[in-house]
Amino acid sequence: MAGELNARYWEERYTAGDTPWDIGAASKPITTYLDGLEDRGLRILIPGAGRAYEAEYAHRAGFSEVFAMDLTDEALKDLRQRCPSFPVEHVLVGDLFTHEGSYDIIIEQTLLCALEPSQRERYVDTMQRLLKPGGVLVGVLFDQVPNAQGPPFAASVEDYQQLFAKQFPDARFERCHNSIAPRAGRELWVKAVRHGPASCAIHDGIEAAATLREEVTLVLADGSERTSVPLDIIHRDGADLVVLRDGTEVAIDRVREVVRERMP
Ligand SMILES: C[S@@+](CC[C@H](N)C(=O)[O-])C[C@H]1O[C@@H](n2cnc3c(N)ncnc32)[C@H](O)[C@@H]1O
Repeated sequence: MAGELNARYWEERYTAGDTPWDIGAASKPITTYLDGLEDRGLRILIPGAGRAYEAEYAHRAGFSEVFAMDLTDEALKDLRQRCPSFPVEHVLVGDLFTHEGSYDIIIEQTLLCALEPSQRERYVDTMQRLLKPGGVLVGVLFDQVPNAQGPPFAASVEDYQQLFAKQFPDARFERCHNSIAPRAGRELWVKAVRHGPASCAIHDGIEAAATLREEVTLVLADGSERTSVPLDIIHRDGADLVVLRDGTEVAIDRVREVVRERMP
């Protein structure tokens, strides 16, 4: 991992008891979200879990496939002591960025703001990689952080929108209404769904138009339309992109319909 925010750094913070981010309980927006889920068999990953109150909450609420991950066991051992029934094989000491797995839900709680800003794109790419198609990243992000030197590192709603746009074009960031008092007004609820591969019909329609150099109208997920000639489909950073003659690129996962114009 990059920079000095490595396992030793975090381990020393826990050993010294220097953990001002730790609210001592599961975050309310996250417990409210979990309470609303019916399927208790969903595979849930909580990376950068720290003392892992959210993992404990989910486990006690009957979720059977909850995984708590952190770089350092110094944090996670607290979970094992508090909650001996938490499955030991669901406690993952390791680096999110090298983790292999496939999850229905990934829960964010003060991990993104703990990473070097240079790692943010890698974080989003990793979320995309670890989510099943249709899976969702949810959780809490800070939109103002007092210590811009970090960690925590500051980010704004606009920063998050830009950061998530490529992998999660429909990501939503909404003000949390149930934050704990010291964080009221400073937390955003993120919901970012990993879309499945674009349907064959959409791929085929774009490819046929590219071969014929035919103008098409692409109807996008947000209802907007783009009319141009597709030149190519490329794969970059885990996403399929259609390259248009007007010089722009569109993520194929955003395309809901391809309207082919009639040739004269
Ligand atoms: C600010 S703390 C938040 C802990 C917990 N989510 C909470 O709110 O109390 C950030 C946590 O992320 C962990 N962490 C940092 N980088 C990580 C990585 N690459 N993979 C897994 N965990 C990481 C740290 O060890 C630390 O426990």
